[in-house]
Amino acid sequence: MSEEPIAYAEIILHWVVGLGIIGVVAIGIYMTQMENFALYGLHKSLGILLFTVIVIRVVIRLRKGWPENVSTGAAWERGLARVIQWVLLIATIAMPLSGMFDAYGAGRGLNVFGVNLVAPNIDDTGLRAVVSEALSSFGEAVHGIGANILIAAILLHVAGALKHHLFDRDTPLRRMVRRGTMS
Ligand code: HEM
Repeated sequence: MSEEPIAYAEIILHWVVGLGIIGVVAIGIYMTQMENFALYGLHKSLGILLFTVIVIRVVIRLRKGWPENVSTGAAWERGLARVIQWVLLIATIAMPLSGMFDAYGAGRGLNVFGVNLVAPNIDDTGLRAVVSEALSSFGEAVHGIGANILIAAILLHVAGALKHHLFDRDTPLRRMVRRGTMS
């Protein structure tokens, strides 16, 4: 099957977002499991920064559509891969957004490496006050459920890419590590 090269910018965005998400997920799981509250700021700052790159990537994907399917797999396999790609796209938006809803709603504000994007909500007594309990609870619930869906989708996505590369010996993974166009 002839293979249309993917633009360099899209390849770079794919790996920045992919590896960035894996890093933020790893910190998220570690800090909650180990109750390491010192890492919360790092997790949130990286998540917010990554969100800006994710938005660029999602806009490009929605405008250009998906790259040509070069898999030699069965129709159901290609369909499943596409469903997982959609789940990843939606989850990469939903996770940082829900994290921000949670933090903002709880009155913690939004902060990137010490720079306040939204200041914490401090009341007259000098204590942090909730902005919206509903927004915070909604964000927390989506963040928790979304984390599991995102992790399952990442594992299936990576397993599929490795299967193609190692067993089917076709091009989807190779195409994401070399050969690009400048457009
Ligand atoms: C790419 C973006 C993000 C990903 C993939 C991500 C992923 C995760 C994961 C896997 C966890 C552990 C599971 C859980 O307990 O919920 C977690 C926890 C958490 N995340 Fe994120 N996160 C992202 C962005 C953010 C942002 C932008 C914020 C806030 C500004 C945030 C705030 C939190 C908080 C407060 C927790 C702890 C929840 C708890 O203690 O119950 N996250 N995140």
